[in-house]
Amino acid sequence: MKNNKLIIFGAGGHGKVIADLASLMGYKEINFYDDSYPQRTYLSRWPILGTCQSLLDNPLPNADYVVAIGHNITRLKIFNSLKLLGVNQPILIHPFTSISQYSSIGEGTVICAGVCISADTSIGNACILNTGCTVDHDCILSDGVHISPGANVAGGVSIGECTWIGIGAAIRQSIEISSHAIVGAGATVIRHVDIGQMVLGTPAK
Ligand SMILES: CC(C)(COP(=O)(O)OP(=O)(O)OC[C@H]1O[C@@H](n2cnc3c(N)ncnc32)[C@H](O)[C@@H]1OP(=O)(O)O)[C@@H](O)C(=O)NCCC(=O)NCCS
Repeated sequence: MKNNKLIIFGAGGHGKVIADLASLMGYKEINFYDDSYPQRTYLSRWPILGTCQSLLDNPLPNADYVVAIGHNITRLKIFNSLKLLGVNQPILIHPFTSISQYSSIGEGTVICAGVCISADTSIGNACILNTGCTVDHDCILSDGVHISPGANVAGGVSIGECTWIGIGAAIRQSIEISSHAIVGAGATVIRHVDIGQMVLGTPAK
């Protein structure tokens, strides 16, 4: 956290979760930018001040930025555009989490309430570790990964860029889930998952 002001791209449900955790982190001013502007000017108690493009065209100084878009490829793309503009995209961490001092986390990643991250795990840029998920020791999560609420990733798992792990999924230790894959809600993954593959069920197929 470098500034007291946080700008959130995307005024959907995930944006609301981020605004909530950001206020717990101590941000004094939280503003949204969303393409529903000017039809919508508020998300709950937080103002929507313009479209995403208006901000990309004229980035505001003295503010931290975060992209709150659930679609992994879009989130990573906007993250990279903002990076080129040189704005600060901090790691946002809910106060109630357990994160190993021996883990590493990339810029623009959001760690929600109740998340546990174990030792020697590396998390990329612009990831979402959603409410109550766990990522155990020696995992590698690439940029743009989303681990949905309550999913459990065992030790030594690698997850490729922009892959989405669905709510409540369980991932067995030491396997590789390639990039752009989708693991369905509640799935139990026990084998490697190929690029772009969607797997469902227990065991996941
Ligand atoms: C996997 C997923 C992306 C598929 O979505 P979709 O393409 O819209 O799939 P549909 O709902 O059209 O279902 C297609 C088929 O797959 C089945 N299916 C869908 N999701 C499934 C799941 N998680 N487990 C088992 N079967 C599933 C459906 O029953 C349906 O089967 P049928 O054709 O025999 O009727 C979605 O169901 C899912 O699990 N998303 C994760 C949600 C999540 O984690 N949300 C948290 C956000 S923070």
